[in-house]
Amino acid sequence: MVNMVNKEQGLIAAAKNVRENAFAPYSGFRVGAAALGDDGVIYTGCNVESATYALTLCAERNAIFKGVSGGVKRFTAIAVVADTDKLTPPCGSCRQIIWEFCGDVPVTMSNLNGKTETVQMSELLPRAFDSSFL
Ligand code: THU
Repeated sequence: MVNMVNKEQGLIAAAKNVRENAFAPYSGFRVGAAALGDDGVIYTGCNVESATYALTLCAERNAIFKGVSGGVKRFTAIAVVADTDKLTPPCGSCRQIIWEFCGDVPVTMSNLNGKTETVQMSELLPRAFDSSFL
């Protein structure tokens, strides 16, 4: 339990840090994410927007894709931090990608005031489509 709490706190801190690098001049909505790879390394990502809007990459996918690019294909937990009172959950596209590389892991949502909640991916994406159908 202590280890789980430490793990969660480490992910939140990493997500909060990387949020500082968010490139969000269009929405002004800055997000940071941190995913724990099965190699024990924390991979971080922020949202990166584009003047064409639709090319925007969310923080969660950025973090996971960085890990995958580094050779990691499995992650055991993920945290997302945004400056919202109602805690920000991953968007639909990110839920699909989180499921692909993490499966039914704990997803921690946190804000800058330290409000935190952890839910399971299966709660965020029930009856997910995945490779088991192919
Ligand atoms: N965004 C994320 O990075 N993650 C989320 O979980 C929600 C939305 C970004 C995308 C866009 O840059 C901005 O937040 C507003 O939608």
